Amino acid sequence: MLDVTPNRPNLPAEIACRRTFAIISHPDAGKTTLTEKFLLYGGAIQMAGQVRAKGEARRTRSDFMKMEQDRGISVSASAMSFDYGEFRYNLVDTPGHSDFSEDTYRTLTAVDAAVMVIDGAKGVESQTQKLFEVCRLRDLPILTFCNKMDRESRETFEIIDEIQENLAIDVSPASWPIGVGREFIGCYDLLNDRLELMDRADRNVVSESIKINGLDDPLLTEHVPAHLLEQLLEEVEMVRELLPPLDPQAVLEGHMTPIWFGSAINSFGVKELMDGIGAYGPEPQPQSAEPRQISPDEKKVAGFVFKVQANMDPKHRDRVAFVRMASGHFKRGMKLTHVRTKKPMAISNPVLFLASDRELAEEAWAGDIIGIPNHGQLRIGDTLTEGEALRVTGIPSFAPELLQGVRAGDPLKSKHLEKALMQFAEEGAAKVFKPMIGSGFIVGVVGQLQFEVLASRIEMEYGLPVRFEQSQFTSARWVNGSTQAIDKFAESNKQHISYDHDGDVVFLTRLQWDIDRVGRDYPDIKLTATKEMM
Ligand code: G4P
Repeated sequence: MLDVTPNRPNLPAEIACRRTFAIISHPDAGKTTLTEKFLLYGGAIQMAGQVRAKGEARRTRSDFMKMEQDRGISVSASAMSFDYGEFRYNLVDTPGHSDFSEDTYRTLTAVDAAVMVIDGAKGVESQTQKLFEVCRLRDLPILTFCNKMDRESRETFEIIDEIQENLAIDVSPASWPIGVGREFIGCYDLLNDRLELMDRADRNVVSESIKINGLDDPLLTEHVPAHLLEQLLEEVEMVRELLPPLDPQAVLEGHMTPIWFGSAINSFGVKELMDGIGAYGPEPQPQSAEPRQISPDEKKVAGFVFKVQANMDPKHRDRVAFVRMASGHFKRGMKLTHVRTKKPMAISNPVLFLASDRELAEEAWAGDIIGIPNHGQLRIGDTLTEGEALRVTGIPSFAPELLQGVRAGDPLKSKHLEKALMQFAEEGAAKVFKPMIGSGFIVGVVGQLQFEVLASRIEMEYGLPVRFEQSQFTSARWVNGSTQAIDKFAESNKQHISYDHDGDVVFLTRLQWDIDRVGRDYPDIKLTATKEMM
């Protein structure tokens, strides 16, 4: 294990060993394969292939929905925990499709670091770039895994240059590949002076490390063919001259990313990456909240809901609120205060997601993710504490970019439709607006695909065929101001006014001109494209 001083030396050992992270990548870069290997080493699954397998085991991922399976995309996020070495890893799965960026953003509020997976042949792709920008907004530490080195890939320096230039972050290699494509034999571990050789025969075998005493150790010549060794020595010299050495503080602040090279499918480089997450992870970080920050080492328990998911089990219509523990030592059965409603809640059946199965969580520490089954009391942004009125901040709701009207195929079922829409709004799967004038609802999403997902879910879960149709509006803005100012504004702009599922006033329009006009004509009103969830 690398010798890194934790940045919060006072944390209890149970918290200091926790690493809560997400993987960001472009589809096909190897996120699923890497997740599978993490779980394999973490002892959470017995055999690689299980994460991807159809049927029951498929639930290890969040692909419960037929639609997700059909399209091969993961629409919703889930969490998985596993142990490796001295660490407990909590991996929060992010949806891979660009249409679900709001969900992804909120997922990233629940983690302390992100692993960025890139395909060695393709470099930084569009979705990686987008997700990276989201991480940057939160100054999340990012660790990079350059995958598929067993295939023809780009020149290593070129990959690093591309990351530095496109993402404006310093890159410091933690390992260096030896040979490319068919000739790829493994990596030189620059942090530990070790040789890591890939076993092509057995994809699930963890490679043996060969301790090397520096690059002039004769042992190298025994394992590395002469022409590759010559290239390695030359390249490592260049690395040490041209690229910055690994600075844990810069990683923590999000200015530098360490990069490991490997091949997830061959289980190669995964072990080093896991050790790297352990060493540079970092441990659970303080959580911004009002009226004060929550520190992970506080004795009292606090946590917040970053995701609500329906249909974890298609046979039961349960909803699970995913809670990131922000402080303290939680024990099953504890009574916590639901800060928004000020009501006590006995948390008697919290679940931990141990890769292949759900398990009752007897305890959880700051950094852990637990699932709390509920019937709708828990919403995204809710804070749970041992009594103190703390509210976790920084979980935004974004104005939708696409709006459509929605109608039940059977007009007699409009009450059912309302119920379904409210459920999705509370889950954060869509924005639902009820216009002040007239009937019906307007649904707002970020990407077109979400309308299809919604239609399919309403039909599947509520047995209700629905039609989405064009709306006269294209933009939505939350209306902020004093109650009096908002009421007055709403009264004189009735045809543009609607209410979101929390009852907050929303201005709908199709013209930027209208938004500018409000700015000019109503100085005591502010229109915003984001709203803090609470
Ligand atoms: P994703 O979740 O990021 O979308 O990627 P996923 O892990 O599904 O991997 C995408 C494809 O890349 C898969 O191939 C997978 O086997 C392959 N792959 C992942 N890691 C490596 C690697 O290290 N080397 C090589 N050569 N390939 C890798 P597929 O053909 O789409 O699926 P499958 O038939 O292998 O399941």
